[in-house]
Amino acid sequence: MEETFISSKPSGNEQSIDLNQITLRPFHLSDLDDLMVWRTDEKVAKFCSWEPYTSKEQGISFIENIPNKFLWCKAICLNNRAIGRVSLKSRSPHDKSRNKTAELAYVLASKYWGKGIATYVVKQVVKVAFSELSHLERVEAFVDVENVGSQRVLEKAGFQKEGTLGKYLVMKGKSRDMIIFSVLSTDLQL
Ligand SMILES: CC(C)(COP(=O)(O)OP(=O)(O)OC[C@H]1O[C@@H](n2cnc3c(N)ncnc32)[C@H](O)[C@@H]1OP(=O)(O)O)[C@@H](O)C(=O)NCCC(=O)NCCS
Repeated sequence: MEETFISSKPSGNEQSIDLNQITLRPFHLSDLDDLMVWRTDEKVAKFCSWEPYTSKEQGISFIENIPNKFLWCKAICLNNRAIGRVSLKSRSPHDKSRNKTAELAYVLASKYWGKGIATYVVKQVVKVAFSELSHLERVEAFVDVENVGSQRVLEKAGFQKEGTLGKYLVMKGKSRDMIIFSVLSTDLQL
């Protein structure tokens, strides 16, 4: 049967959490077991370009390569346990000073969906991007047309929808239409 890309709204029937308990911090190798929970989950990977991990070595390699791969990357933590990741990637990582655009990406363990965590985190990251990474003028995000939850997160965090990019990238072997969102440093009152 063909894989469908339907995104249903989380039921929200589980306990809510105090968003003040959510923190962002660097990844450590000691986060490996927590990282593997969501990096091996097909539900989490469904709208992402990556395939679920099949070995802990992949997780170790991911953590070790963070400084080479990302402009900025943090573990989304609940009570200091890594329940997700949020990152900013530069278009030309070798020339950070001239590159004024970064691509935002985020992922959260499915157990914690529908509690407002991603929206809370993305709002924080936008502030960080335009204050701590002060050379940035634009943060953009590409979201699958059927990833309704992620589109909603960006809208709630103040991103503007700029348009739809037809068959923009191949994900899980299929060409996908992606929506591009952005927020500009001039959009915000920091
Ligand atoms: C997308 C994702 C980050 C959303 O995280 P989240 O913490 O559940 O999002 P929030 O709780 O902040 O929800 C924000 C809004 O989106 C809605 N929403 C969340 N998931 C939804 C879904 N699957 N379908 C429809 N609406 C959804 C929420 O109801 C909320 O809207 P509301 O306040 O109007 O009710 C999470 O589902 C995830 O990690 N998915 C897998 C990885 C992924 O797709 N990353 C993004 C790639 S671009």
